[in-house]
Formats: sequence, C-alpha cells, structure tokens
Amino acid sequence: MSLLEVRNLSVTFSTEDGLVKAVQDMSFSIDSGETLGIVGESGSGKSVSTQTIVGLTRGARVTGTATFEGRDLLTLSQDQLRTVRGAKIGMIFQDPLSSLHPHYRVGWQIIEMIRAHEDCDKKVARGRALELLKLVGIPQADRRLDDYPHQFSGGMRQRAMIAMALALNPVLLVADEPTTALDVTVQAQIIDLMQRLQSEFGTAIIMITHDLGVVADIANDVMVMYAGKPVEFADRRTVYYQPHHPYTKGLIESIPTTVGGRERLKPIQGQPPSVINLPTGCSFHPRCPYVMDRCLTDVPPLRDVAGSESHRSACWLSVEEIGRGAEVDARREAEAEAWRADGGVAEAVATGEIEGTFIADTMAESSPS
Ligand SMILES: Nc1ncnc2c1ncn2[C@@H]1O[C@H](COP(=O)(O)OP(=O)(O)O)[C@@H](O)[C@H]1O
Ligand code: SF4
Ligand SMILES: [Mg+2]
Repeated sequence: MSLLEVRNLSVTFSTEDGLVKAVQDMSFSIDSGETLGIVGESGSGKSVSTQTIVGLTRGARVTGTATFEGRDLLTLSQDQLRTVRGAKIGMIFQDPLSSLHPHYRVGWQIIEMIRAHEDCDKKVARGRALELLKLVGIPQADRRLDDYPHQFSGGMRQRAMIAMALALNPVLLVADEPTTALDVTVQAQIIDLMQRLQSEFGTAIIMITHDLGVVADIANDVMVMYAGKPVEFADRRTVYYQPHHPYTKGLIESIPTTVGGRERLKPIQGQPPSVINLPTGCSFHPRCPYVMDRCLTDVPPLRDVAGSESHRSACWLSVEEIGRGAEVDARREAEAEAWRADGGVAEAVATGEIEGTFIADTMAESSPS
C-alpha cells in the first residue's frame, strides 16, 4: 500500500459568482522516498488539492478519499488532522512568511513547533533547532537562531521554512511552489537541498509548481493539471520525451531557458478558463492547436496511452501518437484536420471562441477559395 493514496478527489466552493470547481476527479499515489510533481498554470487546482488533503480548505465541498498510513484523511476531525499536519506531513510554501511569523525569532518558532508536538525540554528542542538550521545550510546557525525572519535573505528564509517543516521528521513533505519567488541560482540550491534531505531521510515529496522545468530533475512521476483536472500522468522521462497531451507539450515548450536570460520559448496561447464557467467538452479546446469537432462537446476521459497503464492522458487524439518533434506534430495536425467538419471547429474559429491562430491559419489554407 502506498504512503498516500488519493482517489477521485473533487473539491468545490460555493461562491456568489457560482460554483467553483477547483478540483475534479483527481487520483494519484505516492510511496516513501518518492517525488511526485504536480504541474499546471496558476488556478489549475494544485494548491487546493493538497491543502484539502491536510484539512486546510474550510467551507469546501469535498468528495473522494485520501488514504494516508491506512486512514482516510478526509474523514478526520480538525483535532485529528492537527496531529498529522506538521508532524507527519510537513508543508513548505512559496512565501516563507506564511509559516514563519515575522514577529518571533526563527529559532524560537522551530523550538515551539517541536515542543507543541513532542514532550521535550527547551534545551533539547533548541539543540534540535540548531541541528536543523545547520542541516539546511544556514551559515553560522548558532547565531542566526536568534534572528527574526526579516533578517534572513529570501533563500535563507526558504531554508528556515524547510528546517521547520522537517522539525518533526515528517514522512511526507508538500512543497507548494517552494522556489517560485527565488532567483534561478537559489532555486537550484533549494531543489538540491530537498533532494539531499530526501535521500538521507527517505521523505516522500509532493512538489507543486507551474514550471515543468522545476520538476525536470527530481520527480519520479509527474501529474499535469488543467482547469482542476489531471490531464496527463506518467513518469518524468515519459512526460518530457513522450508526452501525449497537447497541454503538456505546450508546458514543455514554454519552459524558461537559461540561454539568453529567462526568455520563454513558446508560450501557450490564451489564458486558462474560469473554473466556474468551464468550456464544454475538453476544457483545453479554446487553446488547443489540434482541436477537433468532438473536443467541443465530449469530455475526454483519462485513458492509457501507447499501451501503457502507467501513462495516462485525457485527450481525444490517437493514443498511439506520443512524443515531440515535427513528424509527430504533422501526423497529429493531419489527424485533427480530418476530424474537422464544416460546423464545429470551423464555426468556433469564425466566432473567435477558439484563440489558436494556428488553427485559423490551417483552416484558411484548407478552405476552397
Ligand atoms: N476558498 C476558496 N473559495 C473559492 N474559490 C477558491 C478558494 N480557494 C481557491 N479557489 C479557486 O480554486 C481554483 C484553484 O485554485 P488553486 O488550487 O489555488 O490553484 P493553483 O494552486 O493551481 O494556482 C482557483 O480558481 C481559485 O480561485
Ligand atoms: S485535441 Fe481535443 S481533447 Fe485533445 S487537448 Fe486538444 S482539444 Fe482537448
Ligand atoms: Mg497554488
């Protein structure tokens, strides 16, 4: 049995504007010592899904199960969850000040965290806090222990937050955009630190990011989310070299390169949809260069791809066509073209519902003049 097994997780919020379908039918599992990357643009449900698992989404309607060490976390009371959060499941966020209180000394906060969960005296806890700051690479840790968070640089604060998340030896670490606010060099150091800690302690890590490049080196498996739903799932290498879903390919092509600064190679056109008013059929259809008529009406289910049970994708394109490169693209374009009649996509392009200029171009070329 996996350390954490999430099945059919759905999370909705009732708001004045309507029902927010933040997460729909998400399933995944993670074992000890493994890293799962959850990737998608802002608003795709990455944070809500993991926060729901640890009981941090109040007022949400939640269905599904999240079995952790044999118990369904979604059925636990807030009191029971408090013994899991922090102690068993550590959390790291984009903004260290969401975990580190600006008005208290860093060391004191780690010490209090340890003493809140474990019966040990102040001196022992202080020793542990010092060890932790050293472990995460804070120079002159004995002196920095009594600093306030604002006396730390951004990278050092992130390290301190990791120290705090590790204070109780969690078996699972949820890192939600842990490096987004940091520059590229510090980002690499933090990723490196997390990898080292993982190999030392066997901690499982869920790494949440909008940047597929961040999980490129460290994830075992990658789940790609779009508009609240998992759209592709596979091991890291497969996701990078043999992707099936056009959104995954778009994310790979838009990974920032270090060559020539942080220029984006090829951003995905358009914006993610509102999860209150999702597009019909495939949610990605207004932005997809391969959109076919059925994509406008039929929701694609997650299916096995290229005969592999461990590679799944929610897209109507042939499950045999995977990978990147001009040849596959050409075959997919031909397939998409064959499934566009006079109504459907042609009409959606004409009315501007579909934003892809690529499709508009190919349709202009293929239409008789
Ligand atoms: N408490 C809430 N009430 C209503 N909507 C929410 C709430 N929390 C998050 N959402 C919405 O749920 C969607 C998913 O959010 P989130 O998981 O934070 O996205 P991500 O982490 O992928 O950027 C967004 O549309 C967000 O606005
Ligand atoms: S081809 Fe269709 S189903 Fe696949 S991602 Fe594009 S719009 Fe969605
Ligand atoms: Mg988020």
